[in-house]
Amino acid sequence: MAHQSNYQTCLLFLQPLLLVCSVGAKVPSIIVFGDSTVDAGNNNQIPTIVKSNFDPYGQNFEGGEATGRFSNGRLPTEFISERFGTGYDNITSHLYSVIPLWKEFEYFKEYQEKLTSFLGKIRAKALLNEELYVISLGTNDFILNYYVIPARSSQFTVEEYQNFLIGIAENFIFDIYSLGARKIAIAGLFPIGCLPLERSQNLLSGRACREDYNKVAKDYNVKLQRLVAKLSEKLTSIKLVFLNVYDPIQEAIEKPSKYGFENVDLGCCGTGTIEFGLACNLLSIYTCVDASKYAFWDAIHPSENLYKIISNRFMRTSLAKFK
Ligand SMILES: *[C@@H]1O[C@H](CO)[C@@H](O)[C@H](O)[C@H]1NC(C)=O
Repeated sequence: MAHQSNYQTCLLFLQPLLLVCSVGAKVPSIIVFGDSTVDAGNNNQIPTIVKSNFDPYGQNFEGGEATGRFSNGRLPTEFISERFGTGYDNITSHLYSVIPLWKEFEYFKEYQEKLTSFLGKIRAKALLNEELYVISLGTNDFILNYYVIPARSSQFTVEEYQNFLIGIAENFIFDIYSLGARKIAIAGLFPIGCLPLERSQNLLSGRACREDYNKVAKDYNVKLQRLVAKLSEKLTSIKLVFLNVYDPIQEAIEKPSKYGFENVDLGCCGTGTIEFGLACNLLSIYTCVDASKYAFWDAIHPSENLYKIISNRFMRTSLAKFK
């Protein structure tokens, strides 16, 4: 099911906002709800400053095209298969004018309704039950919202904010479950303190990872795993899995050579310290020559190679039961 050209077999429903990719085997298609780690170009369609549809983004993508993917090549969901638009928290999406989660849910609802009118209730339900739903978000809620502006940090302690996000995740899973989703994979957080952007705040300690941020990510992941266990018990016939993105990234950072990386603390684009989105462009003269040797493409997004490593790991572990 993890195949590099899967995204070419996608069917565009409700153009351009819901892409459903046919992947064959036991999972007929994959529906993705998420942030820039899984955005194959939604942000191109909306007036946001968070864009990446210009060079050198996509330099290793087919034809070297900058499609709006926030990396040098393909995304994890394209190694698994495809899709969607940012954080759990409405404020995060509002800050960057990107598609909020509740809106993604509205698109999904529309899709479910159209499917039901095309296929009839029984066949539509069977299909919705078989599709794989991938939820990948949360990083932006911390690094582009909680730690950047006071709205949430003045309202919540970090632990309360984690619980707030977990509550949104729980409701979201309930909502898609009630529309027929049964096979659901939900990703945890990266070691966010090791993103090049966060390391750059640690100049005094030689750009070491911010362990305080990593701890927040780890604690959040424990809470998310507890939620997965709880809902797996509570919701009949659900197959809900946690995608551990933290460990493979951490391992690649600790043992770069084992994974073919020469640089794991700077992004390839520009100086690699702070540039992402609009700041990562052709004027970024320091952009590295060979992105495949970098764990990070820009200051916050993994490179295609790191995404490939993470995706392969999922296929052998948490996603194996869906094959
Ligand atoms: C986000 O906004 C939507 C639409 O206004 C609202 O229905 C939802 O309750 C909000 N979610 C949270 C967690 O505030």
